[in-house]
Amino acid sequence: MTKNIGIGLLGLGTVGTGVAQIINSPEGRHPLTSRVELKRIALRDSKKIRALSIPNKLITEDAWEVVEDPDVEIVVEVIGGLEPARSLILKAIKSGKSVVTANKAVIARHGEEIAEAAISSGVYVLIEAAVGGGIPIIEPLKQSLGGNIIQKVTGIVNGTTNYILTRMAKEGADYEAVLKEAQSLGYAESDPMADVEGLDAADKISILSNLAFGGPIKRASVPTKGISTLQNRDVDYANQLGYEVKLLAIAERLASNLENNSSLPLAVRVEPTLLPTGHPLAEVNGVNNAILVEGDPIGEVMFYGPGAGAGPTASAVVADILNIAGIKLMGGEKTSLDPLLSASSWRECHLAKPKEILQKNYVRLIAKDAPGVIGQIGKIFGSHNVSIQSIVQFDASEEDAEIVVITHKVFKGLLTDSLSEIQQLPEIKQIAAHLSCL
Ligand code: NDP
Ligand code: HSE
Repeated sequence: MTKNIGIGLLGLGTVGTGVAQIINSPEGRHPLTSRVELKRIALRDSKKIRALSIPNKLITEDAWEVVEDPDVEIVVEVIGGLEPARSLILKAIKSGKSVVTANKAVIARHGEEIAEAAISSGVYVLIEAAVGGGIPIIEPLKQSLGGNIIQKVTGIVNGTTNYILTRMAKEGADYEAVLKEAQSLGYAESDPMADVEGLDAADKISILSNLAFGGPIKRASVPTKGISTLQNRDVDYANQLGYEVKLLAIAERLASNLENNSSLPLAVRVEPTLLPTGHPLAEVNGVNNAILVEGDPIGEVMFYGPGAGAGPTASAVVADILNIAGIKLMGGEKTSLDPLLSASSWRECHLAKPKEILQKNYVRLIAKDAPGVIGQIGKIFGSHNVSIQSIVQFDASEEDAEIVVITHKVFKGLLTDSLSEIQQLPEIKQIAAHLSCL
């Protein structure tokens, strides 16, 4: 009988269950699917009732048994979190096993260590499910777009927050209630703060940035703002002014020509951002994600689809498994790794200082409803070279007015300097919101 490729599954939660379901029902799928076989499965609590029945002999509560099992050739890590996930991945690599993981937290922080270990052991670590759920974006960046100079990657990369923002904007749904719903649908991280505070999106944009620009950035230094402090008022005003608000993750190069071997400056950030209605990302709703890649010579290309959930994520995990299984079955062990599939860093990159970033801004000020206030605000912005695209007054109460300013593109440093001066005006009660705009 021809040999099958043994899979060791670490985790049988939302994603692990989806993966097991695909592997156990190969009919109608690519023929390679029937050549992979679940050999061992690790979970935390073997007494838990599961959505699918798995023979007891495959199950263990000791994840190390899976990575050490000689019948396991590919380890699939869908436990999540940093440890023991990192150590299990490294152990699998050291034992000569290729790894597939959906764990963006571990890859964003320990990706370099893991990639180096994989190269020296001659194995693959594939991560398609780590960004964008079911959307193919990792392999396209590594392979299909390899001939481009990438300028910018702009993404809605967190399904939970996009689901929450959409339900709030379209139905006025309650934040806490929709978050619970996203958890019950299997979209949220085990600690959903990672979603709503933007940390998950920051992990993902760090990974995409590395692939797009060729070198890692310090994950801990990525400026990150989530949606937990976003106010309905700003979403309403943005809508009235012709914008949608989305949690965007952006990575862009700030230098077109580089001297040999000099480090590439990048602007990378995660924050709620206003997008003009009609922008392709403004129409991305619910759990869907989308990643807009701008490159030379391709221009713009957008990847769109379900960004979280069992089925879509398992689809990406299984694609990686099949990629590795195909190599193993076709060529046996190769003497060297496919350089595009294994993807290592080839350039140094660094984060630019926030004040060097050029962007449009939305600012909401609460001011005394008195003559001349808008004039004074305009004068201060002008003195800092901040050009105003629009300024609108909304009524906040009998004595107060809310003034919403949209600026043209300006260096962030000039904007923050002008806001510090505006805050000193006696008529200004509060700078109530400051969001970026595309
Ligand atoms: P779950 O919490 O649903 O599942 C985690 C699984 O890991 C559970 O089966 C749990 O066991 C098991 N587990 C946890 N710790 C251990 C341990 N120390 N030893 C053995 N088993 C352990 O998470 P998800 O499936 O949602 O997510 C898994 C990974 O996929 C995460 O990295 C996540 O970020 C990523 N991901 C998730 C997506 C999603 O939509 N959910 C989308 C894209 C990526 P038990 O069942 O007994 O508790
Ligand atoms: N919690 C993540 C999200 C899962 O909501 O996007 C997919 O990575």
